[in-house]
Amino acid sequence: MKKRIAFIIASALMCSPQAEAGGKLESIAVLIADYLTAGRVVIANNQPLFNDPAKGHKGFTPQVYEEQVAQEFMKRSGINIKALVFSNDIDRSIIAIHESAKEVVAEAQPQINEPGKEFKGFIPAVFGRRVGDKIYKISGITVKQTSLRYRGDYNKPDDFEASVLKDFESSSKGNTYSMEMKFGDNTVLRYMVPLYIEKSCLVCHGDPAGEKDITGKLKEGYKEGELRGAISVIVPVKCVVNNN
Ligand code: HEC
Repeated sequence: MKKRIAFIIASALMCSPQAEAGGKLESIAVLIADYLTAGRVVIANNQPLFNDPAKGHKGFTPQVYEEQVAQEFMKRSGINIKALVFSNDIDRSIIAIHESAKEVVAEAQPQINEPGKEFKGFIPAVFGRRVGDKIYKISGITVKQTSLRYRGDYNKPDDFEASVLKDFESSSKGNTYSMEMKFGDNTVLRYMVPLYIEKSCLVCHGDPAGEKDITGKLKEGYKEGELRGAISVIVPVKCVVNNN
C-alpha cells in the first residue's frame, strides 16, 4: 500500500505538465520549507518525552505526529494537511513530504521507545535529513538543511547554497531567496529560508566552541540571533524521470 502511494505521488508529481508554471513551483518550494519547519518544531517540542529514560513506549506514533504537525503547518501556511487532494499539484507535493515524515516517525519507533536510555538522538536535524532522503526518492524534490559551518558532509552547501548563505549573513533578517536556474540537465526552482540561532539551539551549537555537545559533535560557539544555516529546496521544472 505504501509503495502504491509513493508510485502515485511520483508519477503524478514528476511528470505533471501543469507543474511547470513558475509561480506554482515557487508555492511548492515555500510550502515544502514551511512543512519541514513545522515538523522540526514538533520534533523539538517532544525532546523531553523522547529523552525520558523512565518511559519505554512513548506513544509518539505517526498519528500523534500528524495531529501536532497539522497544527504547526496550519499556523505557517493556513493549509489543513488532512484536506489535501491528489488532483492538485501543490497538494501532492505536501502529501509527498507529509508521507515521508510519517514514515520517518514510524521507522524511528525503536529508537525513541528504547527504555533506560536518556538522549536518543532523534533531533530536528536528523529528522530533517531522513525526511529529505525520502521525499527525494518519491518526488524528485530536494529539501536539505545546510550551513557554511556544516556538521555532516550530507549537509554541505553546494556553490549556489554557499553564496546565498553569505548573502543571508549580510542581508536583513528573514529574507528568503528564490530563483529558477539550470541544474544539470534540468531547470529547477531553488528556494532558501534562513535559520537563526534561538536559545534552545545553544545547548548544542553555542559556547564553549570546541566542546562536545550531547550528540558528541563539537559546539560551534554561535550566539543567539546569529545565522545558523538554511533550509534549501530544489523543485524540478521538467519531469525528472522519463515515463515514456
Ligand atoms: C541536541 C543537540 C542539537 C540542538 C538542540 C540543535 N541542533 Fe542543530 N544539529 C545538531 C546535530 C547533531 C546536527 C548534525 C545532524 C546530522 O547528522 O544531520 C545538526 C545540524 C544542524 C543543521 C544542518 C547543518 C549542519 O551543521 O550539518 C542546522 C541548519 C541546524 N542544526 C540548526 C539548528 C537550529 C536552528 C537549532 C535550534 C532551533 C538547532 N540546530 C538545535 C544538534 C543540535
